Amino acid sequence: MDDASGPQAKFRAMEEGTAEDWAAIAGAFGPFAAALPERVLAHLRLLDGDYGGFPIDRLQHSLQTATRAHRDGRDEEYVVMALLHDIGDTLGSYNHPDIAAAILAPFLSEENNWIVAKHGIFQGYYFFHHLGMDRDMREQFRDHKYFAACQEFCETYDQAAFDPDYVSEPLEFFEPMVRRVMAAPKRSIYAEALE
Ligand SMILES: [Fe+2]
Ligand SMILES: [Fe+2]
Repeated sequence: MDDASGPQAKFRAMEEGTAEDWAAIAGAFGPFAAALPERVLAHLRLLDGDYGGFPIDRLQHSLQTATRAHRDGRDEEYVVMALLHDIGDTLGSYNHPDIAAAILAPFLSEENNWIVAKHGIFQGYYFFHHLGMDRDMREQFRDHKYFAACQEFCETYDQAAFDPDYVSEPLEFFEPMVRRVMAAPKRSIYAEALE
């Protein structure tokens, strides 16, 4: 958390702002942004003990998804994507993939971010029909260039990661990966100002 110990802007409305004000704000942004991976990891820990009726809790599901991807030889960015794909569950109860995709967008390739954004619909292939829904909802994306990638993520890692007997790596194993992948944005409207 950032406090008031450093220089602060003096404006009362942004339209009064000066370059000096914005130097103070920009100076505070660096340390704040650098702590983003810690905030994300703290939020991931909120899924601990959150079962929602599933055989394992949402943190264990996240660790199992990431562990399966890692043991399958996936690269670090993919593994971090697998670890954090459900991080939107707590605040985005009706649209959790959107929340995760928004948080991860600056740090992932277009393909990996598309997987996160669409995994809810693709995951539905494995259960929507049990709820009276259309399990083929994903077919609307059949011709999309990342259809196969998202299908594979759900089939191989996400839908398979509910086994209480599977021994996953602990969160500590993945923490350095999260810090590396989220160290600097690849895509951001602020990219130029951050250089
Ligand atoms: Fe999900
Ligand atoms: Fe999931």
